[in-house]
Amino acid sequence: MNRDVHRVTGVWWEKDQGSTALQELRRLTFQSGFAFARIATQEVRTSHHLEECGFRIVDTALTLEAPRLSDVETTSFRVRFATSEDASAVVDIARQSFRYSRFHLDPEIPRVLADEIKARWAGNFFSRQRGDYMVVAEQDGRVVGFLQLVTAADHVLMIDLIAVLPDSRGLGLAAAMIRFACMACGRPRMVRVGTQSANLPSLSLYHKLGFQVVASNHIFHHHGPSR
Ligand SMILES: CC(C)(COP(=O)(O)OP(=O)(O)OC[C@H]1O[C@@H](n2cnc3c(N)ncnc32)[C@H](O)[C@@H]1OP(=O)(O)O)[C@@H](O)C(=O)NCCC(=O)NCCS
Repeated sequence: MNRDVHRVTGVWWEKDQGSTALQELRRLTFQSGFAFARIATQEVRTSHHLEECGFRIVDTALTLEAPRLSDVETTSFRVRFATSEDASAVVDIARQSFRYSRFHLDPEIPRVLADEIKARWAGNFFSRQRGDYMVVAEQDGRVVGFLQLVTAADHVLMIDLIAVLPDSRGLGLAAAMIRFACMACGRPRMVRVGTQSANLPSLSLYHKLGFQVVASNHIFHHHGPSR
């Protein structure tokens, strides 16, 4: 983002704790830079404190989980692990696919920057900076979708990013990549994903695959004054 980025965590103010935490937060938000916070939806008091400090909700994030899915559904698509030769195709798909991420939903973040964040996020897999697995889906010999995954504790496999090019959506490619990952990425006990409550296509996808919502959080952004 070409500016300092702060993450506000662990926020919970009892009455007598409030003044110190709020003072620190106010000091932070007067500085230039960008700050974000992820607050459980039911923690309304904390959300109100953040709003008073100039933070604004940009997203309501949902976390969903499903037990490991089977690979029984056969498809006519080729789904496989990515190689380094797939890097530019994957980065291009990431750059043009996302509309509902917290960066895309924030009216103060230019679309081109939000697209670039997703492109670099996916690209970081190929420079070994992010992600444990990258699965791709081909249609007519061309990579048209990708699934980036991270392994978490307790045999949980996390969907970090997933996208399919617009012209190839609705054909079962995302579902096929998730099923492939469940069988090929260390045989996880559980699959977890975070998505946005505004992202109805992705919620439909996860619902169809049997995922259940397990957590809900408001995502706040704060844009400090420019230097
Ligand atoms: C979400 C996304 C990956 C789905 O990819 P996809 O290949 O089109 O999904 P599939 O074809 O495998 O869909 C499987 C099921 O999901 C549901 N679904 C997918 N897209 C849907 C849509 N636009 N509207 C309603 N339901 C949808 C359907 O139930 C579908 O099964 P069905 O066609 O048999 O009814 C795709 O829309 C995408 O790339 N979106 C942009 C990136 C993004 O937002 N990623 C999610 C981040 S969490």
